[in-house]
Amino acid sequence: MRVQKLLLGMVASISVVSWSIAGCTTTAQQPLSQTPVQTPAPETTKPQERPADVPYVPTPQPVVDAMLRLAKVNKNDLVYDLGCGDGRIPITAAKKYGARGVGIDIDPERIQEANENARKAGVSDRVQFRQQDLFKADFSKATVVTLYLLPDINLKLRPQLLKQLKPGTRIVSHAFDMGNWKPQKVQQVKGRTIYLWTVPKNPPADLLSVEVTVQ
Ligand SMILES: C[S@@+](CC[C@H](N)C(=O)[O-])C[C@H]1O[C@@H](n2cnc3c(N)ncnc32)[C@H](O)[C@@H]1O
Repeated sequence: MRVQKLLLGMVASISVVSWSIAGCTTTAQQPLSQTPVQTPAPETTKPQERPADVPYVPTPQPVVDAMLRLAKVNKNDLVYDLGCGDGRIPITAAKKYGARGVGIDIDPERIQEANENARKAGVSDRVQFRQQDLFKADFSKATVVTLYLLPDINLKLRPQLLKQLKPGTRIVSHAFDMGNWKPQKVQQVKGRTIYLWTVPKNPPADLLSVEVTVQ
């Protein structure tokens, strides 16, 4: 019931899809100091391995921009969006800041859309999209991780984030927190809440297990 309410809230909170990747702010591209992450987009897709844990609801572009600002994304970053939808977060990170990006989504339709959006935005050499269950993904190379999932999915993912990511990696979540892992910063943007954490050197043991919430 609680999850149903949250989903309804997520869906109700989006404005009708008026977003377009062409609307991203353009700045002069900085030369990349690192090797591109992109391999050509595959022409064929595999079937979805299981139902998604979270429905597709895109983050409005002003909120994407605020999330990347909150994480202080720069050209040296590798930004992973876990559950990347149409790819707008890694694409914006590449286009606006010259960062590299990886988007992971379980839904093949989203991956196709994300690859097409990257191509249109001219950043296919710096972003890569992978059709994969985020719970099976290796995101250990990320320097920034972005999330727009659900409260229980954030909590289920938290031990994996803390075990895989290097100390100093920034995590930004749209709308949902991480239970008793208190955020460093919380911001309101266009009626949405965004949260920032930095992965500590030695995470406390209680954060490394899945936190159970009472419904
Ligand atoms: C709320 S949308 C967020 C999309 C994008 N990150 C954004 O902020 O615009 C959540 C996305 O997560 C994907 N997703 C849900 N469960 C997943 C899983 N287990 N592994 C990978 N992707 C998943 C969905 O297909 C959907 O595209």
